[in-house]
Amino acid sequence: MQPAAKPRILSGIQPSGILHLGNYFGAIAQHLELQHAHPGECLYFIADYHALTTLRDADALRANVQDVARTYLALGLDPQKATLFRQSDVPEVTELTWLLSTVTGVGLLERAHSYKDKVANNIRPSVGLFTYPILMAADIVLYRSTHVPVGKDQLQHIEMAQDMVTHFNQAFCPDAPVLQRPEPRLSKYPYVPGIDGRKMSKSYGNTITLFLSGKKLRKRVGQIVTDSTEFGQPLPLKTCTVYKFLELFYTPKELEDIAEYYRTGRRDGEPFGYGHAKKLLIERMTSHFADARVRYEQLVKAPEEVENVLREGAVRARKLARATIADCKRACGLL
Ligand code: AMP
Ligand code: TRP
Repeated sequence: MQPAAKPRILSGIQPSGILHLGNYFGAIAQHLELQHAHPGECLYFIADYHALTTLRDADALRANVQDVARTYLALGLDPQKATLFRQSDVPEVTELTWLLSTVTGVGLLERAHSYKDKVANNIRPSVGLFTYPILMAADIVLYRSTHVPVGKDQLQHIEMAQDMVTHFNQAFCPDAPVLQRPEPRLSKYPYVPGIDGRKMSKSYGNTITLFLSGKKLRKRVGQIVTDSTEFGQPLPLKTCTVYKFLELFYTPKELEDIAEYYRTGRRDGEPFGYGHAKKLLIERMTSHFADARVRYEQLVKAPEEVENVLREGAVRARKLARATIADCKRACGLL
């Protein structure tokens, strides 16, 4: 097998809750950009097998899968350019997981930060949680992906996938490598903080979900933690979580002005405080997602449209998957 000639872009997102600004700026925004740069070569999937490591509620899982698909479509995923599918619609991925598990050291998995964090937080690990990175590596190599656009928290998992590719090729097909080495691709904002300043994450309960608006958005933004700088005094720029959010939405030119309000504690001669900064965030977030919010509401009423996209995506994805799994099985001596 020769390495894929063209870039092949792949990424997954877990349907474990409503998508938030960390997902959007860390991953989804670049997924959407890449579909225009590489039409026909982007695959994005909803990682429902992965979600089972934390979610045990069948109705919630089904609803979340729909929600993630709807959100991608509302934000502009074009099914003509990018393939959107459900991970479990391509069950070959579990077969490849097994093949990769035979060349993966326990020590490699034991070093996974996300696994160690969960154990440190008193989550009793299942074997599935432990082998999560193997399933993720299988996701990546099954489609012969060359680039994997993700947020910073996923870098280690991709390095592990690189190791598994090397081990598999060395073990089974050193003269004619079957698997392609993937490279991570970070967005401009690979780390988005949550309202408490830690990493924004569903599991920390510190997210701002994408389509919040009106009163609910005002309430959530009101909860962003700030220090006790007195109103009208200069505000700290580098450590301010509100400012970090403003950086996501405003242009560098606009940020120059906002930074000046922070440094002086004044705007147009009037005192400028955190309340004003939060108002700037609410205004821009509301307008940034206005069109997507409307499309999202339309798709809520058209679940069969969403389902069709997923079904057609799975047909395309499965075709690629079958070719790879056949090559892998042949290399191992299973075919
Ligand atoms: P998850 O919700 O864990 O499935 O994450 C889906 C995608 O969003 C992955 O590419 C993550 O790296 C990215 N992501 C999640 N949280 C953040 C964050 N706080 N900052 C940047 N990227 C994130
Ligand atoms: N583990 C990723 C996350 O939590 C989701 C994921 C599963 C993924 N399989 C993948 C991301 C393959 C990129 C490629 O964010």
